[in-house]
Amino acid sequence: MPTETGERKSVRRAARTEIGNWRNCTLAPAASDKGETLVLGIETSCDETAAAVVARSTCGTGRLLSSIVRAQWEDHRAFGGVVPEIAARAHAECLDEIIRMALRESGVSIDRIDGVAAAAGPGLIGGLIVGVISAKAVALAAGKPFLAVNHLEAHALTVGLTDGLLPPYLMLLVSGGHTQVLLVRGVGDYARISTTIDDALGEAFDKTAKLLGLPQPGGPAVERAARAGNPARFELPRPMKGRAEPHFSFAGLKTAVRQRAREAAPLSEADIADLCAGFQQAVLETVIDRCSKAISLAREEAGVDISHFVVAGGVAANAALRSGLSGLAAKEGLAFHAPPLALCGDNAAMIAWAGTERLSRGLVDPLDAPVRPRWPLDADAAKVRGAGIKA
Ligand code: KG4
Ligand code: ZN
Repeated sequence: MPTETGERKSVRRAARTEIGNWRNCTLAPAASDKGETLVLGIETSCDETAAAVVARSTCGTGRLLSSIVRAQWEDHRAFGGVVPEIAARAHAECLDEIIRMALRESGVSIDRIDGVAAAAGPGLIGGLIVGVISAKAVALAAGKPFLAVNHLEAHALTVGLTDGLLPPYLMLLVSGGHTQVLLVRGVGDYARISTTIDDALGEAFDKTAKLLGLPQPGGPAVERAARAGNPARFELPRPMKGRAEPHFSFAGLKTAVRQRAREAAPLSEADIADLCAGFQQAVLETVIDRCSKAISLAREEAGVDISHFVVAGGVAANAALRSGLSGLAAKEGLAFHAPPLALCGDNAAMIAWAGTERLSRGLVDPLDAPVRPRWPLDADAAKVRGAGIKA
């Protein structure tokens, strides 16, 4: 599976291409085609354009053959956040080339692919349409099945590809749009235990970075600045800590950072580092408290024997969070899993892998399958006040 060194090498190689800001990794030799299911995956739900090829053996183990990701942050920088129309155009402009690159890197020709998967939701409608229409066109032209993948399910199943982990497991999904603890009972079978009642965690990182004048995406920028900071200097709240229900809230924390920043203005680099360190420490304590609560509830109510705890989504790249959650899992007697850094943020390897899981169960989709900008993993979860589309 992916190594950090392999990733860095391929980033350098990719940086020489003319097209933009690439993350690119080839992590296994070309497929042997002996009994493996090969799926081409496409991801365009937000601001990364990605394509990948993944192989799944008959016993369910996976191999990543190629993964190309073009991040769009340069296209959105002037606006301080993702602009849906710009995102959709940028996907449309480069997706064909990215698909070609993913196939070339994998060493697999289109006629050897067994299915074409695309993220069909949740996400920004324009981008989803670009990815899904392209996937359907490739599937139709090549005579292969089309697979409409739920982007959240793809994050949730990534550990099957990287660690060979099978459900059931408990998972914290932390991205720019979602913050949830889910019980993953099986492919297509999820129970949401908790969610955020306001901002998603990635969104809180991004907004905090913006208000402190740091670049986007905010998560890595805040994490970098926090390394030099004193987490105890500024007093910040731990929202929802100790509450009986297991939900999250981050809007108040971000507002408190804004207030402390105003009081300390003009901000020196050291002030910004201390605010970032304080914010990250508050996030860590809150998330660990909330996850601990969710683990207890899952144990009491789910009636399944849980022995694995997984973190996934873009914020799972945060080193402090990974280490804090690994400690929590150890304390709770759970094995801890986190995807390698290149597969935490949005990528198409996870879409291709979820596609192989669906294809191996015969779950293919018709060519008129719709995109689903809103597509919760647990449609029956009880409504949580304030949660809105982040549920
Ligand atoms: O999963 P993802 O790539 O896209 C969505 O599905 O939303 O998550 C993106 C989010 C962004 O908010 C970004 O700031 C955050 O993940 N993120 C991080 C880190 N790397 C990315 N947050 C905290 N620390 C990081 N190292
Ligand atoms: Zn995502």
